[in-house]
Amino acid sequence: MVEVEALRGARVVVTGAGGGIGAALARAFAEQGARVVVNDLDGDAARKVADETGAAVVVGDAAQAVPAARTALGGGIDVFCANAGVGTGGGPEADDAVWEAAWEVNVMSHVRAARALLPEWLERGRGRFVSTVSAAGLLTMIGAAPYTVTKHGALAFAEWLALTYRHRGVKVHAVCPQGVRTAMLDATGPAGDLVLAPTAIEPEAVAQAVLEGIAAERFLILPHPEVAGYYAARAAEPERWLRGMNKLQRQYEDLRAKAGEHA
Ligand SMILES: NC(=O)c1ccc[n+]([C@@H]2O[C@H](COP(=O)([O-])OP(=O)(O)OC[C@H]3O[C@@H](n4cnc5c(N)ncnc54)[C@H](O)[C@@H]3O)[C@@H](O)[C@H]2O)c1
Repeated sequence: MVEVEALRGARVVVTGAGGGIGAALARAFAEQGARVVVNDLDGDAARKVADETGAAVVVGDAAQAVPAARTALGGGIDVFCANAGVGTGGGPEADDAVWEAAWEVNVMSHVRAARALLPEWLERGRGRFVSTVSAAGLLTMIGAAPYTVTKHGALAFAEWLALTYRHRGVKVHAVCPQGVRTAMLDATGPAGDLVLAPTAIEPEAVAQAVLEGIAAERFLILPHPEVAGYYAARAAEPERWLRGMNKLQRQYEDLRAKAGEHA
């Protein structure tokens, strides 16, 4: 494992760290000698990860985690991982409540955390915001409009933070994996089986990519390196890209029909 000098003794918060990618991030940061706070809505899951890693626990909504995490860490936060997310599927027919939940967790929890953190970081001239976005924030996730739209929002917010505060010591990373073997992937259904599962990686591989991205001070962290090529192809040839994605959509509809679902 890469050793990141900047993380030794760093005060780190990971939201949504009761399982999946967040738990792997908490373990990886603890192994680097960081002091970690594990946040999750699921208190039992958070406590289990914290017990393994010697971390502190803040149970509750990621959007409100900063004050309690600051207290648990004795006053300051060096690294904030905005990792909690919801994998909401559907299209425009999904209820407003579904769209709002995706917006709240996938975007506004990042905004609220940044609002709480920036005064401390700008005063100190130092801070690091690690946003778990998704390849869906660079591309599009078949069958999941609220997820795709809000992950594009999360990426836009991370980019905005990065370029606005770069010269004031605030570092930002946007982590954009494709499939990762977690509870979220298990719940994604035929679209996940088609698009994500074939190249899915373990959460530990995402954590390793994050450590390497921090060591290299890279904004865009791509645990699946091939995503860089897809992103470039989408930008260079949007018509061709859409034709290819529509082909995937039709395969997805066939899979759903076979499973007895309506596309
Ligand atoms: N699994 C994938 O294939 C994949 C791919 C790309 C990006 N991501 C992103 O990675 C992040 C982590 O996802 P995961 O796959 O580990 O999912 P997961 O479902 O395994 O874990 C998510 C954790 O977040 C917690 N959580 C949900 N809403 C919360 C909230 N409001 N406040 C605090 N905790 C909350 C859940 O209780 C859960 O423990 C998400 O942002 C997700 O969109 C996942």
